[in-house]
Amino acid sequence: MQIFSEIEPMRAFLGKLKRDTGTIGFVPTMGALHPGHLSLVKASQSENSTTVCSIYVNPTQFNNADDLAKYPRTIDRDIAMLNEVNCDVLFCPGNDVMYESGSHIKFDFGSLDTMLEGRFRPGHFSGVALVVSKLFHIVNPDNAYFGQKDFQQYKVIEKLVEDLKFNVSLRCIPIEREPDGLAMSSRNARLSLSQRKKATIFYESMKQAAQMLRNGISWSVIQSEIKATFESMDEIRLEYFELADTSNLNSLESVSDKAILLVAGYVGEVRLIDNLLLEA
Ligand code: PAF
Repeated sequence: MQIFSEIEPMRAFLGKLKRDTGTIGFVPTMGALHPGHLSLVKASQSENSTTVCSIYVNPTQFNNADDLAKYPRTIDRDIAMLNEVNCDVLFCPGNDVMYESGSHIKFDFGSLDTMLEGRFRPGHFSGVALVVSKLFHIVNPDNAYFGQKDFQQYKVIEKLVEDLKFNVSLRCIPIEREPDGLAMSSRNARLSLSQRKKATIFYESMKQAAQMLRNGISWSVIQSEIKATFESMDEIRLEYFELADTSNLNSLESVSDKAILLVAGYVGEVRLIDNLLLEA
């Protein structure tokens, strides 16, 4: 695997590859890789001649300094994992490369970035859109791969690509789960053993809500029952548990053909998110 930390040498390398061999698939990450990330790499490899992964913990998308400081950084392990799956190129720039001249550019996605995650992480999606725009300009991929776990992020990036006319096709890759259903996340590494067990409530509660919806129970009853379950649990703090339309993430009162359950909350100090696509 070729590893670059500077823009120009990588651009020259990729430019030549693109002319000679075809398409570039791109997997942007913040490192602390797990099998969920590797499924994005594999999806890219199945559709492109070259796969580029980036590892960069982007400071502008953290609205909490402590979360940024504690974000797991495991670069040597990450490189070994990418080598193992034969990723072609890794871009791992520093802040001096990504924000060389500072940056005050802000993005506003209207309701899409003030609802759900946006309510609890103001400015987060602006930071994501900024770094993804920079990465798209640097890597110039044909296809880019994002995880469904960050579904709202995917919708924001879809809008970004559409509005700014980026010449890239986006793919949303299904969530990888642990055997007990917990969605794979770099943040899971910060959970204690007992917190790790409690964290299964996120997926369990969505499965329970999906079953209740199938049984014809009204969404308001389901939502308050699930909230009560979260409230009864020690060390768990729910931020939201919503039923939404996948096209715009507006709240739904019943299942339509494009419905998704979304949940976010804390287990101890660790913030987790998850979601479940529903069938009508
Ligand atoms: O999903 C992530 O890991 C990050 O938000 C991304 C897309 C790499 C931007 O920093």
